[in-house]
Amino acid sequence: MFERMTLFERAVGAETDIVSKEMFNWIDDPEISNALKSLRTVMQDTKSIPSVDGSAARLKLEALARSGAFNNLAERIRIALRPEATASVCRAYIEREMQNLPQPVKLYYMGPMFRRERPQKGRYRQFYQIGAEVLGGTDAPPIDAEVIEMLMTFFDKCGLQGATLYINSIGHNAENCRRGYVANLKAALEKVKDKLGPDSQRRIDTNPLRVLDSKLESEQAIIATLPHIADHLCDECKTHYAEVKRQLEVRGVLYQENWRLVRGLDYYMRTTFEITAPGLGSQNAVCGGGRYDGLVELLGGPPTKGIGFAIGEDRLLLSLQESGKGQVQQGRDVYIAWMGERAYATAIRAAKDLRKAGFSVELPPLEQKFGKALGQADKLGARYALILGDNEVSEALWTLKTLADGTQQKLTEPDLLQFLRDQKPTSQ
Ligand code: HAM
Repeated sequence: MFERMTLFERAVGAETDIVSKEMFNWIDDPEISNALKSLRTVMQDTKSIPSVDGSAARLKLEALARSGAFNNLAERIRIALRPEATASVCRAYIEREMQNLPQPVKLYYMGPMFRRERPQKGRYRQFYQIGAEVLGGTDAPPIDAEVIEMLMTFFDKCGLQGATLYINSIGHNAENCRRGYVANLKAALEKVKDKLGPDSQRRIDTNPLRVLDSKLESEQAIIATLPHIADHLCDECKTHYAEVKRQLEVRGVLYQENWRLVRGLDYYMRTTFEITAPGLGSQNAVCGGGRYDGLVELLGGPPTKGIGFAIGEDRLLLSLQESGKGQVQQGRDVYIAWMGERAYATAIRAAKDLRKAGFSVELPPLEQKFGKALGQADKLGARYALILGDNEVSEALWTLKTLADGTQQKLTEPDLLQFLRDQKPTSQ
């Protein structure tokens, strides 16, 4: 969960919102952290420098602070709670020399990420991602399409309804491709600067592409008039994008193109995609991803192709719940109502066997009258009550009550297991 801050500054981009505004980070050494704080105070108030105690060590520190070397040292030990995991996966790929494994290397992760965002429905400061990355090998368009196909199949299996796939290509970082487009976009934005809000005005200088991401109502009509990146892609990127779309069609994956889909992380190139799902309000992106050839190299590894995605697990569950799916099954499969010492010994064994067979079982720890036990089974939402008294144990015939309709039957132990197995669905 921890990484060096510099990893994200380099990979995700120091100017992105994620890194510049939303990261939880600190210098992981209280002494250096405090020294840095007091030095900064001294440096801010230059008048106080002559009056500070002039010990050699102090003077040396001040000289260091002035030269910026101290800051550099401090920044090298700054650590952060990861806001995403693609940078970490690339770091691990390099560290573990995974370029020596058969390529491509296909990796996945599940875990918590942290962003200091304004919390609201579907947006949390600690949230969970399920991600996958394909590293190394070729950048052939079928890889992009296959990754997306896998995602859509997964959502389908989860029973997620109304998932919409948006795709775009943001080209590559060259004058005849994205850089040229960004210059064009910047010029167009300068012309309408007065009509934009403060955030977008600032982004004209820091990251013009991000203006396309704006959700401000007043800016939508202006953004609609801006140049499209598709008209500025170089021939290779254009061909790559056309082939990704064709490959999606071959696989029967439905998509919509969205020329404004630029994504908020700097490492992307060519294919970008996002999937939205209903029931999430304004935070409706349930997954984001794209191609990031060159990221491994940027972090000090060999030239490596890469593509991947991350699903927002919290949002996926929210959307499933909103549509009535993904309800956690309450209740139990079997509630064991027992009376008597001998019956309890059998009940313990029955609970063990049923649990081993994959059923959820409630075994009350204390003896209670059958009437009370059955009432409790009802309250817990159990599907069946297994009734074990002296008679059942002596006859080796167990009583199984179906709580929904009150019917009862006597079954031998093996028949009981078989009967329950046949009565799907269970909580398994
Ligand atoms: P991302 O678009 O920043 O991409 O995040 C992916 C998904 O994580 C979002 O679509 C959303 O569902 C979820 N998510 C993001 N922030 C929050 C939050 N504050 N609360 C709840 N859910 C959130 C990435 O993180 C890239 N690393 C994806 C990627 C992998 N690209 C290539 N490989």
